[in-house]
Amino acid sequence: MSEHVRIYEVGPRDGLQNESVIVPTVAKLRYIELLVAAGLREIEATSFVSPNAIPQLADADVLLPLLPRAPDVRHPVLVPNERGMDRAEAAGADAVAVFTAATDAFTERNIGMSIAASIEAFRRVLRRAAALGWWRRGYVSTSFGCPYTGAVAPDRAVDVALRLLDLGVEEVCFGDTIGVAVPRQVRALIAAAVIAGIPIERIACHFHDTRGTALANVAAGLEAGVRCFDSAAGGTGGCPYAPGAAGNLATEDLVYFLDASGWDHGVDLGSLLQAARFAAGALGTALKTKVGQAGGWDTSTGSPFGRA
Ligand code: COA
Ligand code: ZN
Repeated sequence: MSEHVRIYEVGPRDGLQNESVIVPTVAKLRYIELLVAAGLREIEATSFVSPNAIPQLADADVLLPLLPRAPDVRHPVLVPNERGMDRAEAAGADAVAVFTAATDAFTERNIGMSIAASIEAFRRVLRRAAALGWWRRGYVSTSFGCPYTGAVAPDRAVDVALRLLDLGVEEVCFGDTIGVAVPRQVRALIAAAVIAGIPIERIACHFHDTRGTALANVAAGLEAGVRCFDSAAGGTGGCPYAPGAAGNLATEDLVYFLDASGWDHGVDLGSLLQAARFAAGALGTALKTKVGQAGGWDTSTGSPFGRA
């Protein structure tokens, strides 16, 4: 099994979409530049969704063309329908993520479609994206729990993942949208996915730290063979269903954990902390993540580094 872990950065998209402050386009651009400088190579940049649904990302058409382009850096964008696909194409996207959920109650409220209807909408989006040669990802939100219907059985999330793979996505991402998962559930879901025939290298996991279980879930995912994890520098995001709660797993917490555990990932923690601090500043707060406050830890001296 590979010792390399892909860190898929979602701060500019999942992080900022859930913040009450609307960050100016220039600050988003700087945040993304700092993430690239820290070594991140997959940075979900924005969403081409309805600006009424997510006003925080209404500048997607302006932001995307401004992003620094490098052959080894990918900036996937969220697209819910053909209208979003038109916008993403016009803005010069080259990677797309479609998003549905393991429960109809959630997709109905999030994108106004049942799971089945979303799959039909994505069929057209992904056909176009494939013809354009774009990289493609499919999200299964609420894979571990739904804010409207409660517990979710692994088979329901796996069934939706299989339908997305059938549409030609390269990767499926199981999302713990409301941050309720624990390692036991991660093991159960990954095992069910592998038994259903999903190749482990096509599985990513997306954890929120709402209840402090995100890194434990990453550890369980790693043991199960998963090698791609989502996180947000600065731990941005919060949780719309749990006011005041922590947001996405913080990239700096993930990087510290992977470094100390001997995984290779290509991100420099000191530089990443600058990006995380910048994001917090753009949102008008101090950096409140664990590693953001404590800093990294230099094993040769015993001293912390990267603190404010
Ligand atoms: N980009 C911009 N505008 C869009 C759009 C897109 N991709 N898709 C639809 N719209 C506009 C429509 O033109 C319409 O505008 P109007 O009210 O000014 O006429 C409005 O949005 C509603 O469109 P409609 O087709 O009736 O769909 P809806 O109201 O059921 O909304 C979505 C469906 C998917 C567009 C909307 O729910 C959405 O954008 N959700 C995104 C949620 C999200 O990003 N969640 C976080 C990620 S997990
Ligand atoms: Zn999320």
